[in-house]
Amino acid sequence: MSTDAIVLLKEDHKEMRRLFKAFQDAEEGPAARRQKLVSQILEALTVHTYLENEVMYPEVRKLLPDLEDDILESYEEHHVADVLCAELFAMDADDERFNAKTTVLIENVLHHVEEEEQEWFPKVREALGRKQLQEIGERMVELRADAPRTPTDPKAIKKSLDAVTA
Ligand SMILES: [Fe+2]
Ligand SMILES: [Fe+2]
Repeated sequence: MSTDAIVLLKEDHKEMRRLFKAFQDAEEGPAARRQKLVSQILEALTVHTYLENEVMYPEVRKLLPDLEDDILESYEEHHVADVLCAELFAMDADDERFNAKTTVLIENVLHHVEEEEQEWFPKVREALGRKQLQEIGERMVELRADAPRTPTDPKAIKKSLDAVTA
């Protein structure tokens, strides 16, 4: 299995897109199903933004100062997603705003993931060697076991705050 950081992050993105699609298909369906899908989405996003905020973003920022603006924008996009995730985590699927909030979260994350994949991951791939990307990926694999899985986990909250004051 590859530990290339970009390969690993794109695998996460693929899983997110799958969960988003599943939610969209279930949008008119039973509350229990929507609640379950949203809790899976929140878990996937909490783990993924944690790994990016703690490893990938600071590493890229340090190694490739030219990408500073992309990284800062990405931190802010994560922050918006974090706020929506925290609100959704506390919300019942019966709430009249549940679907609307989930839809806005999905739109925001899809936009952000597009930017990562189309705009700056390719520049990182070009600038860093295979070995460097593997080392960054290995650190993410290690950290994943310990990563927060819900938006209210103290580690998830700390990562959110650190990211906007970084
Ligand atoms: Fe991201
Ligand atoms: Fe990402």
